[in-house]
Amino acid sequence: MTGEARTVAKIIAPQQVSDGAGVKLKRSIATATLDYLDPFLLFDHFGSDNPDDYIAGFPMHPHRGIETVTYMHSGVVEHKDSLGHAGSIAAGDVQWMTAGHGILHEEMPQLRGGHLSGFQLWVNLPAKLKLTKPRYQEVAAKHIPEIQRDNGVRIRLIAGRVDGIQGAVREIAADPTYLDISVPADAVFSQRIPRGHTAFTYVYAGEGQFGVNAETTGTHVRGQKLVVFSDGDTVEIRAASAGVKFLLISGQPLGEPVARYGPFVMNTREEIQQALEDLRNGTFV
Ligand code: CO
Repeated sequence: MTGEARTVAKIIAPQQVSDGAGVKLKRSIATATLDYLDPFLLFDHFGSDNPDDYIAGFPMHPHRGIETVTYMHSGVVEHKDSLGHAGSIAAGDVQWMTAGHGILHEEMPQLRGGHLSGFQLWVNLPAKLKLTKPRYQEVAAKHIPEIQRDNGVRIRLIAGRVDGIQGAVREIAADPTYLDISVPADAVFSQRIPRGHTAFTYVYAGEGQFGVNAETTGTHVRGQKLVVFSDGDTVEIRAASAGVKFLLISGQPLGEPVARYGPFVMNTREEIQQALEDLRNGTFV
């Protein structure tokens, strides 16, 4: 591939946190170490064989000014919201929710088979879209394109464009890429990412060399870690002998002021006050 290959800028070890009504999570964006990775506000990995770690779920709560992206690897999360939507997100499915002006919803992991594993990402909305109409893109596993490259690399294409194929989720302000990638032993994965876009990977299994380029063999990373890349045109990763599996996520930074209060993310303190007032007055949704 031509252009400058991105290198590893930062490696983040996820922190154990508890959120919602007592769900144990591994959080790697929205922590003291990495507060904001413009335009990404939060990244959580939830996964456990013990239902006590997740069954309390996330009872009814509001969101404004952001998008939340839920991608499941195993188990089922049932959701319902103030707009009358209800459904379930199962293994391999993705839900890209644009909260916009406001949504109240609950996200409740179900006890089916015991193991639950998935990811939640929060994407900031630009000022001009913070109060947009709420929207959902829910894509069932069978509608997410899967690409198999000649060297055995497998890619589930949730958002973005890879090898001429368009991802399942479209028309998102941050122009995101969201890929779930499996690289077999010693194989190389490379991908073009628009220059200027923020890019990170979350390594959930295995290990490999990240940020490989003409000058270096990259940085060794073993899951589970979040890896932030420097700017450039491409990302290149070489799997170690046991292979490596990771999410690759990128998006256009906003460069706007952030006023954050729990599930509300606006540009000013006044707009946060307004969100709280709307919630009290019943004018939130
Ligand atoms: Co939520």
